[in-house]
Amino acid sequence: MDIEVKLSKTGIEKKEVLKYKEEVEKIHKNLLSRANDENDFVGWMHLPTNYDKKEFKRIEAAAKRINKDSDILLVIGIGGSYLGARAVIEALSSSFYTMQTLKQRKHTLVLFAGNNLSPNYINDLIDVIGDKDFSINVISKSGTTTEPAIAFRIFREILENKYGIDEARSRIYVTTDKSRGALKQLSKEEGYETFVIPDNIGGRFSVLTAVGLLPIATAGIDIEKLMKGAKIAEDAYNDSNLKYNECYQYAVMRNILYKQGKTTEVFANYEPKMHYMTEWLKQLYGESEGKDKKGIFPAGIDLTTDLHSMGQYMQDGLRNLFETIVYTCESKSKIKINSDDDNLDGLNYLAGKDLDYINKKAMEGTIEAHVSGGVPNIIIKMEKLDEENIGGLIYFFELSCAMSGSLLKVNPFNQPGVEEYKKNMFTLLEKPGYTK
Ligand code: PA5
Repeated sequence: MDIEVKLSKTGIEKKEVLKYKEEVEKIHKNLLSRANDENDFVGWMHLPTNYDKKEFKRIEAAAKRINKDSDILLVIGIGGSYLGARAVIEALSSSFYTMQTLKQRKHTLVLFAGNNLSPNYINDLIDVIGDKDFSINVISKSGTTTEPAIAFRIFREILENKYGIDEARSRIYVTTDKSRGALKQLSKEEGYETFVIPDNIGGRFSVLTAVGLLPIATAGIDIEKLMKGAKIAEDAYNDSNLKYNECYQYAVMRNILYKQGKTTEVFANYEPKMHYMTEWLKQLYGESEGKDKKGIFPAGIDLTTDLHSMGQYMQDGLRNLFETIVYTCESKSKIKINSDDDNLDGLNYLAGKDLDYINKKAMEGTIEAHVSGGVPNIIIKMEKLDEENIGGLIYFFELSCAMSGSLLKVNPFNQPGVEEYKKNMFTLLEKPGYTK
């Protein structure tokens, strides 16, 4: 794992960060003391060490089986029950993996459903599946979330009509709570293969459990390397001494900036494959910190694309922003700009240069522009875009989020606000038990 955090473009000196040393140590000890508590939500903290090795093998076996019998794996889940898997798959696959042939991709195509209520989306998905062989991985910790429950009902029926009840059963994989919820009950009755979301790991912290690992392994990504990266990060960042812990320095920096009125954090990437990683980050931080009328608002931009849509605001709009760039040093693909005899496009000054180099120069220029425009920049640099670094990055952000939320004095592990829309929706839909 090779991840580095640069705070020098924030305008805040290291000694300001180090003033939080004692508070960070106290929070770290508190998190540690809760990490093995079955009734708490800090189980992700030692997960890269403690994960269930038997279940891990079962996940790898299921992924192999799905690759043998299915063109498509339909992953049904919402929020923490899909964003992490999608983030990792997109980061580590071809930018056009959904359009590749099976021969090009070499692995079952993973598609997602149950993360919206759009009939267009469902119909389009039914069309795409057509007569292809498919399996379902339905993921819900509570087992009762409406969006995935509806999608599961629809696609289970399609699966049963296509293969008959018995074969359909062998093509349904359920990831849910070990004993509670409607999905668990249904799995027991139908005999579906199930994987467990541990009690002490909440949805948005669950990507390194079966929640993320089964879809990720099915997409052909090496989940052993992913866990190895997370384990290296666990070892590196479980240092209570703020002076040596970049993960906690990042968490402290966010809080200092927030206190200075920088209430929006814009996560930026210079690699389109990282778009869903940004979506995962938005959920991780938004749901963990946005409570008690507090919290940094997490936003996201894809660069350089969004310099031509959000660039003006970033440079010159309301100065309540700071920017966190998650940046990959090395691109696997080399694209050189050739010289052109006529040079009508005036690009010969770039002849012989690599596109990756140009992307980097665009980034450096943008950082300077944004910093001088009053947007502090934090840079999180990854040497390579690979399994190990992505595993490490996931752990880095989970731990920094727990620290950051604790510094903000909110409970980073609950999400009481999410229930409000559900109550209203259920009342409007006349769900039994919900009245005006
Ligand atoms: O982070 C969380 O806990 C949430 O975003 C959940 O993942 C999301 O609401 C889906 O819940 P469930 O897995 O119970 O269907």
